[in-house]
Amino acid sequence: MKILTVVGARPQFIKSSMLSKAVQPVQDITEIIVHTGQHYDEKMSNVFFNQLKLPKPDYYLGVGSSSHGKQTAQMLEELETIIQSVKPDVVLVYGDTNTTLAGSLAAAKLHIPIAHVEAGLRSYNKEMPEEINRQVTDHLSSWLFCPTASAVENLDKEGITEGVYITGDIMYDAVLYFKDIAFQHSSILETLHLSKKDYYLVTIHRAENTDNPERLKSILKTLQQLEKNVIFPLHPRTKKKIEQFNLTNLLSYPIKTVDPFDYFDMLTITSQARMVLTDSGGLQKEAYMLQVPCITLRDETEWTETLQFGWNQLAGTDQNKILNLINTFQVPNQYPQIFGSGKTAEEILTILTKK
Ligand code: UD1
Repeated sequence: MKILTVVGARPQFIKSSMLSKAVQPVQDITEIIVHTGQHYDEKMSNVFFNQLKLPKPDYYLGVGSSSHGKQTAQMLEELETIIQSVKPDVVLVYGDTNTTLAGSLAAAKLHIPIAHVEAGLRSYNKEMPEEINRQVTDHLSSWLFCPTASAVENLDKEGITEGVYITGDIMYDAVLYFKDIAFQHSSILETLHLSKKDYYLVTIHRAENTDNPERLKSILKTLQQLEKNVIFPLHPRTKKKIEQFNLTNLLSYPIKTVDPFDYFDMLTITSQARMVLTDSGGLQKEAYMLQVPCITLRDETEWTETLQFGWNQLAGTDQNKILNLINTFQVPNQYPQIFGSGKTAEEILTILTKK
C-alpha cells in the first residue's frame, strides 16, 4: 500500500510523527510525505522534524504565507501533479488547516480515497477557516478517524456514517511516547527561572483573537493583572499583530514573551504550569493529557469532553470573566481517559490495511 501523507503546519508534524513511526517497520506499506511549507520558520517547522525524528519530506512545496485562497490554490496545483505521479492508494491528511483542505481536494478530484485523522470535530462557527476546512474534508473522506465519541456524533448528524471509526487521539500517542524523553532533554524551567506550578502558560494564535484589536487588547490587559509569571511564546502571526496594533507596551511584567517552543520544551513547560490559557485546540488537549487546568480564550471549543469534567473552562476574551475563572478554578478529582489508549496510530494502520 502506498500512503501519501500531506502535512504543513506545526501540529501536523507532531501528529504525523506517530503514524510514520508505526508505518516504518511494516514491509508492504510505503509512506510518501509532502510538506506544503505552510509553516516554514525554523522554530515552526524544522525543529519538529529533527526532534520528532520525522522522515525527511519527499516533496517540499514551499508555499509560505499568503491569503487563504492563494495559499490553498498553490498547494492544490502542486499536489495534483505529485498525486498523479505517485499514484497513491490513499491520501492521508490531519486536522483542519489549509494544508488539510488542499490535500483532500486534490485527492478527491483525482478519485484517490482520503483518510482524515482528527475527523468529526466541529465548532459550528463558520467564521473560523478551520471549520470550513474540516467540514469539506470530512465530506470528501473515505476513512474518518475520530478522536472522541462526540466527533462520531457530529458526523452522524451530517449523515456521515460510512467509514467512521473511533480511534482515540493521535496527539495522545505523541504525549505518552515523548513525555519522559522531553522531561529528560528540556531545561526550559531552569532557563526561564521558573518554579513548578508557579507560572501561567499562554498561547494565542487564532485569527478571531489576533486579527481583532479589541479582543487581543483585552487578553493582554487581563494577563497584565495576573500575580505570577506569564510565559507567552509568540506565534509569528501574533507577534506581527501586536506590533501592528501598537500593543507592545502591554507586554511588560508579569508577561514574559519568548520565541515558539520546540516540542520537548513545550511538553515540559505545559506539564509544570499552574494553569494554561490558550485559544489553541492542540494545547487544550495537551493540558488535559498532562492534567493541567486550562482556560480557553474562545467562545466555543471543538473539544467539548475537556469541558465536561471541569479541566477546561471557556472564558472568551472578557477580562472579568477570565480573572474570575482563574480565581475560582477548582481542580477536578475525576480524570477519565477521553482521548483513548495512546495506540491510535496502530489502530489507524490496522483499519487502513484491512482488505
Ligand atoms: C495554522 C492553521 C491553524 C493551526 C495553526 C497551528 C489554517 C487556516 N490555520 O494557523 O488551524 O491551528 O496553523 O499553528 O490553516 N507565519 C510565519 N512563519 C511561519 C508560519 C506562519 O511568519 O512559519 C506567519 C505569517 O505571517 C502568516 C501567519 O503567521 O501569514 C499565519 O500563518 P498560517 O499558516 O496562515 O496560519 P496559522 O495562524 O499558523
